[in-house]
Amino acid sequence: MLGVCGGIAAYKMAALTSTLVQRGATVDVIMTDEATKFVGPLTFSSLTARPVYSSLWDAPERIPHIRLVREAQAVLVAPATANVIAKLAHGIADDLLTTALLAARIPIAIAPAMNSAMFEHPATLANLATLTGRGYEIVDPDEGFLAERERGVGRLAPEEWLLEALARMLARTQSLRGKRIAITAGPTREAFDPIRFVSNASTGATGIELAREAAARGGDVTLLLGPTALQPPPGVRVIGFTTAQELYDAAMREVLDADLTIATAAVADWRPSTRSESKLKKTDEDLDVRMVRNPDVLAALGERKGKTFLVGFAAETDDHEANAREKLRRKHLDAIVVNDVRGERGFGAGPNHLTLLYGERGRRDLGTAEKRALAARLLDALEELMCS
Ligand code: CTP
Repeated sequence: MLGVCGGIAAYKMAALTSTLVQRGATVDVIMTDEATKFVGPLTFSSLTARPVYSSLWDAPERIPHIRLVREAQAVLVAPATANVIAKLAHGIADDLLTTALLAARIPIAIAPAMNSAMFEHPATLANLATLTGRGYEIVDPDEGFLAERERGVGRLAPEEWLLEALARMLARTQSLRGKRIAITAGPTREAFDPIRFVSNASTGATGIELAREAAARGGDVTLLLGPTALQPPPGVRVIGFTTAQELYDAAMREVLDADLTIATAAVADWRPSTRSESKLKKTDEDLDVRMVRNPDVLAALGERKGKTFLVGFAAETDDHEANAREKLRRKHLDAIVVNDVRGERGFGAGPNHLTLLYGERGRRDLGTAEKRALAARLLDALEELMCS
């Protein structure tokens, strides 16, 4: 899908559309109202042999904003104006293009084109950084002659760069086809009476985003998901668990023959030794709860692993990498992802920082970003390691 916005470079999208059609792509074009002032929709509908959409009200009964992004494999917004970039960064959906993009769960590339001063404005740069953090691919503008008869940065990226960005996104949509992927996510709850339990701050967000991304890449995904308020992604087989023992049983049944297993679950290391059948009544005495060890699910998978590529997470507050390397060896993992959880950072929404460690000395910094973008970066890196 192409999103064409109101900039002079809109005319260049006709040539790009023609190239894509000649290469066998099915292309849907959404134009903003402003874009139609630069190029007529007929140009694009002639090239694509499909209707061009610019209004939410063109054929509302067909719900175009949802249907178009569901049918597409990837979106390129080019030329992307400062205004559309700002709207996307802030979740504003006031026309067909911005509404469709808010509903999109497919890879999105943004190719800005505007005057240098607008491109270099801190607001535009901050909005682009927000979008990068959410996993959008930004195709940087080129430098050269601008419509204002000045030279500077802000020209729409050349067609070749746009085609490369599309090719990268499309390759990603197929990269895990035929692979079985198992992901554990969320906290466990270890009850000591019917309503009280020991748990932790995990929301399962990291594992859910990994499952979403792995499914978007064509993988056959099983998500073992602990108690959480978050919704699992569509198109993924979900197996629920509450306790560490339930996760262990499900993992032994479901995970052993996966091609890739990623353990993000925050498993309680101990559980109360007894569980009262009825609610413990309050007394004036202190309550002693004895805790006994839970099975280490990941270590057990490491001992039994056949062909699966096994990846653990290490939630650390101190000596992050040394501790994680020790877990990598002890649990017989192929790779481990270090997650800094000081002050509950790393839990729930908000940006996170991940580092991937593998082999004796292998290390890759995945940077700081929203969980969705980090999920894509982590899968890119793991796919590379699995192939090497
Ligand atoms: N893990 C597991 N079963 C457990 C404990 C941890 O499967 N009983 C997995 C987690 O899903 C994660 C990895 O092991 O992928 C590391 O978890 P973490 O809590 O960081 O490490 P622990 O082994 O529990 O070590 P420690 O608590 O001492 O840091």
